[in-house]
Amino acid sequence: MLDILMFLLAWLGHACFMMVLLNMAYSMPWDRNFRKVFRLLMGLWIFLGPLYYYYLFGQINPLNTHARGTVLILAHALYMGISFTFAIVALPLITIVRLRRKPPKNLLRETTEVLDVEQVLGHKPVGDGKYHFLADLPFNMLFKVDFTTLRIGIPNLPAEWEGLTILHLSDMHFIGTPGKEYFDAIVEKCLEYGPHDLVVISGDIIDTNKHIAWIEPILGRLKGTHGTYAILGNHDWWQDSDAVRSKLRELNITVLGNNWETVKIKGQPMTIIGNEQPWFHPGPDLFAAPSGVFKLLISHTPDYVYWAASKGVQLMLSGHNHGGQLRLPIFGSIFVPSWYSRRFDMGTFAVKGTMLHVNRGMGSKEPLRFLCNPQVSRILLERI
Ligand SMILES: [Fe+2]
Repeated sequence: MLDILMFLLAWLGHACFMMVLLNMAYSMPWDRNFRKVFRLLMGLWIFLGPLYYYYLFGQINPLNTHARGTVLILAHALYMGISFTFAIVALPLITIVRLRRKPPKNLLRETTEVLDVEQVLGHKPVGDGKYHFLADLPFNMLFKVDFTTLRIGIPNLPAEWEGLTILHLSDMHFIGTPGKEYFDAIVEKCLEYGPHDLVVISGDIIDTNKHIAWIEPILGRLKGTHGTYAILGNHDWWQDSDAVRSKLRELNITVLGNNWETVKIKGQPMTIIGNEQPWFHPGPDLFAAPSGVFKLLISHTPDYVYWAASKGVQLMLSGHNHGGQLRLPIFGSIFVPSWYSRRFDMGTFAVKGTMLHVNRGMGSKEPLRFLCNPQVSRILLERI
């Protein structure tokens, strides 16, 4: 019995290691089909690998001089030993650290209002996307949208920007599911809050070229008083990204790409930077950016936060990770397509002088969410 328990714990440790590798692999700009094959193989290895090790252990027989001491068997025994130790020591410690993680001190206040789109419409806006049957599953939290208001303190913020509002939208993934009425309900709620000074869209707008047609009726209704800025993400990269950019520009949305511009907002300069790496190249060159000016970075993946900190970015807005979409109680996220695995899965972080907010996104290609509501973020800047 104890043997089986130890074996299962080693299996858990092995699964954690493989998931970290998978997460890191998914942060790379790999070909989609290659990624699918890699995911399938990793999935098989997560489940079958330990059985193979178990088979090998069965070969360890001190009387069998052929098998004894085989490098392969010893290496696997060592790996399973490390996996077991990870599961009983490191995993609980990591979980405790994550649970005890405090919000950054410059996040002055966070409040959430939930928009239950199913309740508003009187039915589930399942739509007609490829995986629409998933959207109908009873435990799915796909239609409960968190409107999160974050008051973020910025040292030496220009007095004119006290209370400046930024509406941050991310990862719409227009694909048919959720249906258009879901996004219409979200837009209505955004409009209810009144105009925002800036609207920021941090990528993954579409998942099929057909749904470029949704950009105008949905995103075209949300305009920042001082501008609307967008970048593209990996899912736009896989589609007709030029057509997405053209459509956004037609709507007077500034598509930054991997560039920056310095604009005057309420009379004060702000440098707004786009970062679509690692999918679009070359990355932003900030050499000529004015110094001493507030820098806002819109980056699809939060993986560039250390780069942002090195460039003196005060506020960075990202999406991409979707909070992991399926979260376990206590443990949290599992699959997060990031080089840092689960570290920046969702929420607000302070990295050196940079405040990073990772939005969970409004949609997703696979319409499944558990303990991970979709999200719209409203950021209010305050001088501290
Ligand atoms: Fe996404």
